[in-house]
Amino acid sequence: MEKNNGQREVFSSKFAVIAAAAGLAIGLGNIWKFPYITGIYGGAAFILVYLICIVLIGLPVMLAEFVIGRRARKNAVASFQELSPNTPWYLTGAFGLVTGYIILSFYGVIAGWTLHYVFLAITNGFKNQSPEQLNNIFTTLITNPWQPVAWQLIFMVLTAGVILGGVKDGIEKYAKILMPLLLIIIIILDIRAITLPGAKEGLEFLFKPDFSKLNATAIMSALGHAFFSLSLGMAAMVTYGSYIGKKENLGITTLQVTLADTVIALLAGLAIFPAVFAFGVEPTSGPGLVFLTLPNVFNKMPAGYFFGILFFVLLAVAALTSSISLLEVVVAYFNENLKMSRKKATLVAASTIALLGSFESLTYSIIKFDLPLFKGGKWHSFALLDWMIEISDLMLPIGGFFIAIFVGFVMKDNDVKDEISNSGEIEVAWYSAFKVFIRWVAPVAIIATFINMIFGLV
Ligand code: PFF
Repeated sequence: MEKNNGQREVFSSKFAVIAAAAGLAIGLGNIWKFPYITGIYGGAAFILVYLICIVLIGLPVMLAEFVIGRRARKNAVASFQELSPNTPWYLTGAFGLVTGYIILSFYGVIAGWTLHYVFLAITNGFKNQSPEQLNNIFTTLITNPWQPVAWQLIFMVLTAGVILGGVKDGIEKYAKILMPLLLIIIIILDIRAITLPGAKEGLEFLFKPDFSKLNATAIMSALGHAFFSLSLGMAAMVTYGSYIGKKENLGITTLQVTLADTVIALLAGLAIFPAVFAFGVEPTSGPGLVFLTLPNVFNKMPAGYFFGILFFVLLAVAALTSSISLLEVVVAYFNENLKMSRKKATLVAASTIALLGSFESLTYSIIKFDLPLFKGGKWHSFALLDWMIEISDLMLPIGGFFIAIFVGFVMKDNDVKDEISNSGEIEVAWYSAFKVFIRWVAPVAIIATFINMIFGLV
């Protein structure tokens, strides 16, 4: 990053803007979460709803977050205070902070599992293991009380270390090389998965929609995941927007980041589902799906040992670039608004999040701590770890709703237009369409999805 007229740091190039925002967006959501919820909610029809959510709601809300951030040039909370002083709108940012806190608490646990799989890959732990044995390896890991907690702590120390060590820019430089590499590895896995005997069923699952499988809960999850995957609804992209230079085209950046994120998710699905069916893994296996499935693929490909290590290392790096940004959102607030030193802010945030995450992890093994949630017209009970994942799927669209209303109705129209058109330098013929989407389409779609979910209408 470089200084902008001696004020706030801004990204040094167009590529840096996109790479950093894509680093924030692309993570476990694309490769771990997207495939497993697609498996639970029945495949192609769910993916279609997800894509509709991305276009109708994700695109306008991402642009809205960039507009707020670049206009105000402040952190998640202070940006709202700057643009609408002495009003409760700052609570949108504060709500986002709480959401970020919750997300990072379970994110660290899953990233911890990923680190364990790096270790297994290096020590040749998948070799000659049948699909059932690979299943056991995963179950043994998550039901062991201490191992996942230890891995989670290691991951959180890494995340906090990057922020404390001030090497964030360094990591981002590596990420610019490593993320394209991740894309290449996924494409290689796609080719192997699609050519497995028995892959056809997986392809049908992904591409032949069966609308009878869609229900209110599936639609809610598709919306929640669109927000999660694009990192929207918690003002993280507001924080990022505050670092974007005045010359960048926000509309184009929004399109590029969204496209990159969506392509990676779809390619991950394409690597996983043919293998799910080829190896007889349950598509509804839940959060373990990627860990149960891909080691089978590594076992069945040339240089599988090498690809296994590379894949899990890159997945851990993708998780790290997202977790750094999640922690940064909280740290920036503690530091700028609560006047803590950056060091203290990082230590307080990371240690309390890690503590919460450890507790969540233990609800898969020795602690029984279930919480209730009302969905699809009835009450369900979830272990704390799953409950946190579910609740973030609800909190992000709520945050997104208020962000849309803020840009649609509260900010001055001239300011919004000025930001999107770079003070009239770029032609934005689509501006009135954007206004309709951010004022009406996105908020109404979010409310409709909630009403539908609560009453289980569809
Ligand atoms: N988008 C990230 C992923 O797909 O893994 C998760 C995430 C990161 C959500 C940062 C929200 C956020 F602010």
